[in-house]
Amino acid sequence: MVTTPDSPSLEGLNALVTGGAAGIGRAVVQRLRTEGASVIVADLDANAGRAAAAQLDSEFVQTDLTSEVQVRGLFSGIRDTGRPLDILVNNAGGAPRPYFPDAPATHWLKSISLNLTGPMLATQLVIPMMVERQGGVVINVGSVAGLGWGPHSSPEYAAAKAGLIRLTSSLVPLYARWRIRVHCVCPDWVDTPSSRRNRAAMAPEELIRLPPILASSEVADAIVALAKDTGSTGRIVLLRGGLPPRVLPATDWKGL
Ligand SMILES: NC(=O)c1ccc[n+]([C@@H]2O[C@H](COP(=O)([O-])OP(=O)(O)OC[C@H]3O[C@@H](n4cnc5c(N)ncnc54)[C@H](O)[C@@H]3O)[C@@H](O)[C@H]2O)c1
Repeated sequence: MVTTPDSPSLEGLNALVTGGAAGIGRAVVQRLRTEGASVIVADLDANAGRAAAAQLDSEFVQTDLTSEVQVRGLFSGIRDTGRPLDILVNNAGGAPRPYFPDAPATHWLKSISLNLTGPMLATQLVIPMMVERQGGVVINVGSVAGLGWGPHSSPEYAAAKAGLIRLTSSLVPLYARWRIRVHCVCPDWVDTPSSRRNRAAMAPEELIRLPPILASSEVADAIVALAKDTGSTGRIVLLRGGLPPRVLPATDWKGL
């Protein structure tokens, strides 16, 4: 990943960060603002969203990313401003309990909707703007939950995040001719409001087995580095506490 201090800044570019009111998303908004980008925060939580937007000198649009109508409304509002997007960060996500198979489909489908369908729809709606501008970058926030073959307590979350990684790599060749770049960052545990709630519910013997916890700012740094590195696309970046970011090797089933 190119992170040289003289990489171009994001001055004059327009960005949208979903779930930007708290946690990783808020840290991304803060970093993008530092780099000079104009940022729209789309979040379900109106109070936190308004507060974050006011503190970080950005705009807020209350949006439920699991609602197709609301996501379409968000993008048509952005089109109407005449300031098409250069950067889309599909960050809103999470794993609300109870998990599959203990919850009805109406519940676990919401997790798939938030972690996979929402980012897919937002990407579909941003592509025409980026084609028109002959460039742009979509950065998906995945998770280590979507990597490898191990068990996961929330299978629907793991499946959705695995889907997000393959969505990323599938889209890369489709849009490269318009210089539209697509990346996915996959963090391990990050210190955010939701992870603090999860850790508060864990037993001491579980807590002791956790890896070092990443700061939200470390994830934001990796995301902004990808946004600035205009020569790269298709990066799947693994982020683990205490270790440098690692770009995973590209492969397909024939390489296994
Ligand atoms: N925290 C971690 O340990 C961790 C690890 C790996 C991946 N991630 C991923 O990072 C992303 C951000 O996680 P976080 O820990 O910062 O989450 P968080 O729960 O702390 O914050 C998420 C934000 O998204 C918003 N949001 C939730 N549902 C929404 C919806 N339907 N529509 C719009 N906004 C919605 C919330 O209001 C909140 O502001 C998620 O995609 C998550 O899966 C987190």
